[in-house]
Amino acid sequence: MKIAVVGLGFVGLSLTSVLASKGNNVVGIDINNDKCEKIRNGVTPFFEPDLEKTLRIGLKRKLTISDDFSLIKDCDIIFVTVGTPQKSNGAIELAMIKKASATIGKVLAKSKKNPIILIKSTVIPGTIQNIILPILEKKSGKKAGKEFGLISNPEFLQESSAIRDTKYPHAIVLGGYQTKHMKKAKKIFAKLHPNIPIIITNYQTSEMIKYANNSFLATKISFINQLSNICQNTPGANIDDIAKTIGLDPRIGKLFLNAGPGYGGSCLPKDMRAMINFSNKAGVAPTLLHAVEKTNEYQINNVIALIKKTLGHVESKNITVLGTAFKPDTDDIRDSVAIKLIKKLLKMKAKIRIHDPKAIENTKRIFANRIEYARSVSDALKNSHCVVIMTQWKQYEALNNNSIKNMRKKLIIDCRRILANKKLDADYYAVGIGKN
Ligand code: UGA
Repeated sequence: MKIAVVGLGFVGLSLTSVLASKGNNVVGIDINNDKCEKIRNGVTPFFEPDLEKTLRIGLKRKLTISDDFSLIKDCDIIFVTVGTPQKSNGAIELAMIKKASATIGKVLAKSKKNPIILIKSTVIPGTIQNIILPILEKKSGKKAGKEFGLISNPEFLQESSAIRDTKYPHAIVLGGYQTKHMKKAKKIFAKLHPNIPIIITNYQTSEMIKYANNSFLATKISFINQLSNICQNTPGANIDDIAKTIGLDPRIGKLFLNAGPGYGGSCLPKDMRAMINFSNKAGVAPTLLHAVEKTNEYQINNVIALIKKTLGHVESKNITVLGTAFKPDTDDIRDSVAIKLIKKLLKMKAKIRIHDPKAIENTKRIFANRIEYARSVSDALKNSHCVVIMTQWKQYEALNNNSIKNMRKKLIIDCRRILANKKLDADYYAVGIGKN
């Protein structure tokens, strides 16, 4: 069985690497030749734990990386993992997936195979049926369900655990018509992931499951963030004890109840906006989703209010931001709340110095010389009037009185409460902990 993966972003490259590392015959395809060249040399274009190691194992086996779409011709399975970024009105941009579908269609026209095409890219309900399927049929001159299979197969992996999630997904969703291709796909996935639930449904439901998943996660985060703000104004209250306890109720569950500065990243904010947009189009006022989004947007103002309240005016003050990645173990700063915070503080004329173990280069692309970049945490803290912990990198948990000794004013704003149990010779304020 020969497998193609089209689009080598987080999802595509993780999938390509995992499948190849297991000895499958895999072709990873991306239109960006420079990116392909790097990957062929065993270098990943972004940081993701275990990805490079897995890729290199794959490269020693049967893995080809190329920008040549004609290699799809001999493939039995074709995963489509191209990006679906956001337009300014919140809707998703389909240009890339339309182009990929057209190119795959043209190759299919010349192929003798009867492949299964699995759409992993996140798309709004109706997209596969109304846009992707017609493009593929038109360009290939072949019939879906007969001469090729077309199945929705949404992805649930998280950045920073992409390899683990690709190897051990919590569920597999297959959406489409009940054809021979669907039967075959079910068999293949059952073999790849024994004992993992496989949900077989139609296109629209499968597409919607992805948005339901991400918007529910966003809802959980906004819920706990709003509660954390209430706790912050309630002397003695501690959001983590509350989250831990309600998380023990199996109806609630313990994950995604970590209060913080708001959710960021390339998925939750984008998918929330797309879902709101889609809901409006479907004639349903997305009242809850709006509230989730508004709560998330507000959360950074809570952090700024805390900085202002404790520091007085911000102008000309040295403020250190620890962590610009949207979460630990990634160098991804897309829609990172820390970036939003820095932009706001710069407008207020603060002097910003940042530290991040992995995301400095990406952060430089946004701020260039408008902020300072520290190589170490102690450099970042030197002469600082205030440090704001934004990303929960493990190494920030090691901060102690020695690390803050060169701060000009020992003021710590901890958005992740990682230092809450330490005795620090500093003014310490944390999101979600009420002070007397
Ligand atoms: C998210 C989903 O979790 C994945 O299931 C999904 O496959 C992916 O989007 C996608 O659609 O591709 P990811 O963007 O990697 O994954 O990030 P998350 O781990 O969900 O974190 C998103 C944001 O929420 C981060 O800024 C994180 O700090 C924040 N968060 C998360 C919290 O503030 N509290 C929590 O308890 C959990």
